[in-house]
Amino acid sequence: MDREPETRVRVWDIPIRLFHWSIVVLLCVSWFSAEQGYMRAHLVSGLTLLALLLFRIAWGLVGSTTARFSNFLHPPRRVVGYLKGLAGGDKIFHAGHNPAGGWMVLALIAVLLAQVATGLFANDGVRFHGPLALLVSEDASTRLTDIHGLIFNFILLLVWCHIVAVGFYLLVKGDNLVWPMITGKKHRARLPAELNIVFTRLYIALLLLAVSAGIAAWIMIQGDSIL
Ligand code: HEM
Ligand code: HEM
Repeated sequence: MDREPETRVRVWDIPIRLFHWSIVVLLCVSWFSAEQGYMRAHLVSGLTLLALLLFRIAWGLVGSTTARFSNFLHPPRRVVGYLKGLAGGDKIFHAGHNPAGGWMVLALIAVLLAQVATGLFANDGVRFHGPLALLVSEDASTRLTDIHGLIFNFILLLVWCHIVAVGFYLLVKGDNLVWPMITGKKHRARLPAELNIVFTRLYIALLLLAVSAGIAAWIMIQGDSIL
């Protein structure tokens, strides 16, 4: 008996999906804890985010095809061509991030990393300071705290653009990108004909996550030992 061809194809691996929804939660926790002055929680959420970002960078080098930077960072000419096609109503589908979205992903990762990096040297002007704040002068720490606040506004702007873009694909292009970020699967009709996605083994993700968490934990311990 002939089997029906699969109509849904896996495009996102579990690490990417967990990474995505975890950073959404951690961003909310980081904002809320800073607003309320829960600095211990702020530190823990920030360091968890750092571990996840380090993991994501490593996964972008050795992870599954759709996770790799080489798969979704295209030269500017290709990005412009893609955007022109999009405006002209072309129906071009991508298994992973499209050429414009790819750079947005890199920008999001970069600003989040900058936020954590400045947070490590920040202080609340009262009794809390980031784990590496005592490595720099008080003046420098205060300046980095200001930059930390500024970068957060930039994050909000990028996240807003990100959500508007996802909404655009859904409402204007009829392409729901959110569901695949939850289930991992896209409809075959919304994928290129030629598809060759290789999924990296999960134990490699776990190994990379352990190393990333180790680095974040080491930074936290450095903070305690500086005191
Ligand atoms: C709140 C903060 C958010 C941040 C910082 C964020 C960040 C990111 C990042 C870094 C990626 C790339 C994933 C990867 O390759 O590792 C991504 C992809 C994606 N995000 Fe978000 N995201 C946020 C919120 C949301 C929300 C609320 C939604 C849903 C409405 C959403 C929907 C998506 C989708 C659908 C993709 C995949 C896009 C594609 O198919 O190319 N994101 N996001
Ligand atoms: C290890 C990581 C982090 C450390 C040690 C840290 C530390 C700090 C410190 C010391 C302050 C000053 C608090 C005050 O003035 O009362 C602060 C403020 C803040 N942090 Fe962080 N932070 C970290 C990560 C993050 C992350 C990941 C986010 C969000 C993405 C974030 C968002 C904020 C916001 C929104 C403020 C308030 C800024 C303002 O009022 O101008 N932080 N953080």
